[in-house]
Amino acid sequence: MIASPTGPLTDDEVALVRDSTPGCTDELIHLNHCGSSLPDQRVLDAQIGHLQLEATIGGYEAANAMVDADAAVASSIAQMIGADSSEIARFASAAEAWNAAFWSIPMQHGQRIIVHDHEYGANAIAFIHAAKTRGIVIDRVPSDEHGQVSIDALAQRLERTDDVALVSLTHVPTNGGLVNPAIEVGRLAHAANVPYLLDACQSVGQRVVDVDEIGCDFLSATGRKFLRGPRGTGFLYARTSILDRVTPSQPDHHGADWSSTDDYTFADGAQRFEYWEYSHAGWLGLGAAVDVALEIGLDRIQATITERAAQLRVMLADIGMTVYDEGIEQSGIVTTATSAVRSADLRTALADAGVNSSVTHVGSSRYDVERRNLPPLLRLSVHCTTTYAELERAVEVLDRATG
Ligand SMILES: Cc1ncc(COP(=O)(O)O)c(C=O)c1O
Repeated sequence: MIASPTGPLTDDEVALVRDSTPGCTDELIHLNHCGSSLPDQRVLDAQIGHLQLEATIGGYEAANAMVDADAAVASSIAQMIGADSSEIARFASAAEAWNAAFWSIPMQHGQRIIVHDHEYGANAIAFIHAAKTRGIVIDRVPSDEHGQVSIDALAQRLERTDDVALVSLTHVPTNGGLVNPAIEVGRLAHAANVPYLLDACQSVGQRVVDVDEIGCDFLSATGRKFLRGPRGTGFLYARTSILDRVTPSQPDHHGADWSSTDDYTFADGAQRFEYWEYSHAGWLGLGAAVDVALEIGLDRIQATITERAAQLRVMLADIGMTVYDEGIEQSGIVTTATSAVRSADLRTALADAGVNSSVTHVGSSRYDVERRNLPPLLRLSVHCTTTYAELERAVEVLDRATG
């Protein structure tokens, strides 16, 4: 279906992707892909088809009937991120996947966990909880002049490693437009032999993400955002070589085999992190979303999103709005505000005109809000379904609302 070999999708190709996406209509401009994106029809078909099968023949029987398709989902995800399918565990959200990895890592009282000054709120809560309950020390690496994690400061933090339990990084933060240099961080973490957990919730589906290139031991992601999958889905990548160094914190009888009255044996591979029950329809829908992304090409999705977001930043600056985005490489998440009108009111004006957007919340990125003294920001996120004409219409609404 997608013919051009490289670069952003052509207008014809964008039109093709839009044609198979029911939410892409003249009435709606969706600029909230970092909240929850618009799925392709094939995602809906996979989900609804399975729900109907469950309702017709029974949930367990439907699972048996779809056992191969179900297993193929992990293969598709593995293909997308350069992993082996045994390294993929299913979860209902990115936070669940991230927590499964985080709480499996051995942490001794007084040990440091090295984190960046731009972590997602859920992760920061876990750090604080680990500080309170395990006595670990949160060692926050500052940002450099571009707003991304300072590689020099991280290298210094890792000069001594006997007291380091973990390096944690959010690849694409929830606001601020930034793409963190995950590969450089991976090189340092690998050289220091410290487990590296990457929150790729906002990067998987919008960028080329290769776990071997990055060198992460764990990677967490969600289905509903840039992957254009169903809500209530996510996954964890767990590198095979890390499994001997970690212990899942809450295994069930799917993650572990109850092998004798008083003992159990962990399942092979990343399955040890999973629970037995899950939404089979959601998982199949996620598989369809990954297959759609692979068919379009993650490199082409990334190029299209990068181009569209850059266009939007220029348009916003042209109407006098402040763009708060940092980073040498920038993502499809554009954050902006003006002193003239509250961001919440801009969001309402956009919604009244059929434009979906969101407003940042301090609880999602307090480190960044405090560091930069940020007001609530209007968050506009684009995808490869977004057209230049849609951006023009959205910016016209903002121009009227602020002028
Ligand atoms: C960077 C980042 N990490 C993690 C999450 C959590 O994802 P989920 O809601 O699927 O748990 C989000 C959600 O917005 C996010 O932006």
